[in-house]
Amino acid sequence: MADGTDQKSSNQMWGGRFASGPSAIMEEINASIGFDKKLYAQDIRGSIAHATMLAEKGIISQEDKDKIVHGLNTILSEIEAGTFEFSRKLEDIHMNIEARLATLIGTAAGRLHTARSRNDQVALDFRLWVKEELQKTESMLTGLIAAFLDRAEENADTVMPGFTHLQTAQPVTFGHHCMAYVEMFGRDRARVRHAIEHLDESPIGAAALAGTGYPIDRHMTAKALGFREPTRNSIDTVSDRDFALEFLSIASICATHLSRLAEEIVIWSTPQFGFIRLSDAFSTGSSIMPQKKNPDAAELVRAKTGRINGSLVALLTVMKGLPLAYSKDMQEDKEQVFDSAESLELAIAAMTGMIRDLEVRKDRMRAAAGSGYSTATDLADWLVREAGLPFRDAHHVTGNAVALAEKNGCDLADLSLEDLQAIHPAITSGIFDVLSVEASVASRTSFGGTAPSEVRKQIAWWRGRN
Ligand code: ARG
Repeated sequence: MADGTDQKSSNQMWGGRFASGPSAIMEEINASIGFDKKLYAQDIRGSIAHATMLAEKGIISQEDKDKIVHGLNTILSEIEAGTFEFSRKLEDIHMNIEARLATLIGTAAGRLHTARSRNDQVALDFRLWVKEELQKTESMLTGLIAAFLDRAEENADTVMPGFTHLQTAQPVTFGHHCMAYVEMFGRDRARVRHAIEHLDESPIGAAALAGTGYPIDRHMTAKALGFREPTRNSIDTVSDRDFALEFLSIASICATHLSRLAEEIVIWSTPQFGFIRLSDAFSTGSSIMPQKKNPDAAELVRAKTGRINGSLVALLTVMKGLPLAYSKDMQEDKEQVFDSAESLELAIAAMTGMIRDLEVRKDRMRAAAGSGYSTATDLADWLVREAGLPFRDAHHVTGNAVALAEKNGCDLADLSLEDLQAIHPAITSGIFDVLSVEASVASRTSFGGTAPSEVRKQIAWWRGRN
C-alpha cells in the first residue's frame, strides 16, 4: 500500500497501523450522529410522549416519568445552547440522548426504552421531521404562487411571444405565462398536502418489528405527537421509508419545475431577448467583463435540481431489494432528505425573490411578440371564419403570405391589401383587425386561453385558493 503497509500479510495490516482499525472503521461506518443530530427535537418529543404513555398505563412509575421528562427537557436546552457534547462512540442521536439522560437522572433513564426499539424510534423521529419540512415547503410554495399571482395581475395585458420548440408560435400574455407556473407550483403544493396526509400515522410502539407484550397505548402516543392514528402493521412500520421517498419525489418534480423557470429567466435576461431585467439582488457581475450582469441565482436553482434528483435515485437504490424489516442500509436515508430539503428551500426562496423583484420589459416583449409571423394562425382562422375556406386551404394561403412577408423583410401586418388579395381574392381590409398581436391575444377566449379576460378569471380562481 502507498503508506508502506505490507499488502500480502493481511494480519500485519490489521495488526500494525490498523491495530485499532477494525473498531475505528466500524465506528466510522456505523455512526450517524454527524447528521442525525438534526433529529434531536423530534427524538425528545417522541421520548416524552412515550414515557408519558408508559406512566399512564402503569408500565413505569409517575416518579420515574417525571425524572425522565425533566431530564429530557434539560437535554433539549443543552443541545439548543450548544453545550451538549455529541459522541460518535454513542453512534446516533437516540443513544447520545439516552446516555446523557442516564448521567442526569440515573437508573430511571433505563426505563425509557421499555416497549420500544431504535427501529420504531428512528421511524418516528424521521417522520416527524419530514412532516414539518413538508409543512414548511407548503407555505413556501404558497409564497411563490402569491408572487406569481401579483406579477400575473400586473401583466394580464402584457403581450409577449409564446413559444413552441423555443420558436415564436403565437402571441400570449406574460400574465398567462406566469399563471402556467402557478398551475405547476399549485400541483406541487397539492402533492405536498397529499404526502402530509399519507405520512400522518405514528410508528412508535411497533418496537423492533413485532410489536410488544407491554400494555402500551399507541393511540395515546399518536394523539400526543399530532398524528391522525397509529400505523397498522408493525413490520411495515419499521421497514417503510415511503414518506422519505415521497418527499424526494415531490422535491424532484418541484425542482424540475423550478429549473424550467430558471432556464426561462436565463434566456429572458440575455441582451438578445431582453424580456426582463433581474434585480441586482439576484445577479452578479463578472470579474473581467464590466458590462456583464449574470443570472447566477437562476443558474444555481437550475443546478440544484441535479442534486435533488440524485438524492431520489440514491434513496430508491438504497431501498430497492431490501428485505423486511429494518436493515442498517436505511440509515442512509437521512442525508439525502436533509440535503434535498435544504436545496429545495433555498431554490424556492431564491425564485420567489427573483419573481418579486424582476423588471418586466413590456416594450421588448411587445416588439418580439409581433415578429416571427406570430399571428399567422389568426390570418388562417380569419380565412376560415370570414371567407369560408377549409382550415387546410387557409393554412396554405397563409403560408404564401408568410413567404411573401419573409421575401419583403416585413411582418404580416405590414403587407398591403393588394399583396394579400393577390394571394387570395377573398381577403378584405378586415384582415388587419386580427393581424395585430393585441387582437390575436384578445380573441383567445376559450377556457384557460390567453385572452386577458380569461387570465383575469384564472387569477381570481387562484386568489380564492391561495
Ligand atoms: N441510527 C439508526 C438509523 O438511522 C437508528 C436505528 C438503529 N437500529 C438498529 N437496529 N441498529 O437507522
